[in-house]
Amino acid sequence: MAKSNAPMQHVCSFCKRLVTIRDQYDMPIFDPQTGFAVCRNCIGDIYHFIEDHDTHKAATSKKNFAASLGSILAKNKPHKIKEYLDQFIIEQDRAKKVLSVAIYNHYKRMKYGFDHKDDMAIEKSNVIMLGPSGCGKTALLQHLSTLLDIPFAVTDASSLTEAGFVGADVEVAVRNLYYAADKDIERAEHGIIYLDEFDKIARKSGEHNSITADPGHEGVQQALLKMLEGSVVEFTARGQRKHPEAPTIKVDTKNILFIVGGAFVGIDKVIAKRLQKSDANIGFGAKVEGENDKPKFDELIHQVSPDDLMKYGIIPEIIGRLPIICTLETLDEDALLRILTEPVNAPVRQYEKLMEMDGVELVFEEDALRAVAKKAIERKTGARSLKGIIEDVMLDVMFDIPKTDEPRRVIITKECVTDGARPEVEPIEEKQSA
Ligand SMILES: Nc1ncnc2c1ncn2[C@@H]1O[C@H](COP(=O)(O)OP(=O)(O)OP(=O)(O)O)[C@@H](O)[C@H]1O
Ligand SMILES: [Mg+2]
Repeated sequence: MAKSNAPMQHVCSFCKRLVTIRDQYDMPIFDPQTGFAVCRNCIGDIYHFIEDHDTHKAATSKKNFAASLGSILAKNKPHKIKEYLDQFIIEQDRAKKVLSVAIYNHYKRMKYGFDHKDDMAIEKSNVIMLGPSGCGKTALLQHLSTLLDIPFAVTDASSLTEAGFVGADVEVAVRNLYYAADKDIERAEHGIIYLDEFDKIARKSGEHNSITADPGHEGVQQALLKMLEGSVVEFTARGQRKHPEAPTIKVDTKNILFIVGGAFVGIDKVIAKRLQKSDANIGFGAKVEGENDKPKFDELIHQVSPDDLMKYGIIPEIIGRLPIICTLETLDEDALLRILTEPVNAPVRQYEKLMEMDGVELVFEEDALRAVAKKAIERKTGARSLKGIIEDVMLDVMFDIPKTDEPRRVIITKECVTDGARPEVEPIEEKQSA
């Protein structure tokens, strides 16, 4: 558009501002003959306006959604949800059951709300999940989100800050849901919000932490509390600057199901302390180091009470809004071994597929897998380190194999994992025809 060196300038026919045109996007609509032009800001505003006020779309989707709830319910019976999760997540049966029931009930509550306009609303039961790092909390919820017929958004609570602080306001959680619902407010108002890393907003002055005041986190919790209790959350569209005249979107959180989860590192000590006080003879606090460390942690975490969460630094009003407490297990060596090979997206299967593309058959010996699991246990990050350990072992193979095209078999032995030995590579003999 601009041919001379100095950028061209032109007045937008809508907002009447003089716009400097550096490229075609500064003034997407421009008719040199009539001078009619629309600047990018106006185009953006028009776009958002149409998107946000498409009432026809909203009305039909509401009707369709209400009508389809019957079949959604039939499809999402708790055992079916659990079966789906079983494909990806090893163990954690209790957590899977709790989540499956919570989701099913959420659908039922929704159907009741659509069918009966009476005031006997069935109350929702938000869920709090606790479990060690790398045991599958985030993974469970991510797989759930791909299954569900309702909008589902995961927001990292550790990124949230009180309004006025640097970071994202708590409204972001609802905004994420609104976008997960394709900007359909009605659907968003019946969706599910998962707040991950929830323990990171615990008050620092909780017994578990130091005694210094921590207004930032307390503020986040207060703001979240309003959302949990059900309030109208107001936010601006994504990418739109926050200024007083900016159009806002309003979403009522009354019917949104909240699931929160976190590792709550150190809560076992809070629980142990309480148990010790209530029964000095049991002596949970007594040192049982080494081998017994893990079961002891699980034993404690299963006994978590609202009181412990409060001591950890979650305000009691929030705990009151999270009636379902669900704890996950520490993954032992056998579980890690299964995670390596069983899930449909298991790490070993992924590497097999990758190698197959180079005409290579990848064989992990049983002790090699066990060695990977052992190493992961040492790292104390649950299943999270499995992939990295295999990646280390596989690096040289993945680098060297593509050098030639001949079909080969690569055998990963225990020594490859424990001592960094090179994997065995052998040619695959032609299949002998009789
Ligand atoms: N029980 C499990 N079955 C299958 N895979 C698992 C399981 N637990 C963890 N994983 C895998 O390990 C990785 C880390 O798990 P995830 O992110 O769910 O941990 P987390 O419990 O959220 O931990 P953190 O508290 O540290 O966030 C993921 O890639 C996940 O697929
Ligand atoms: Mg996680």
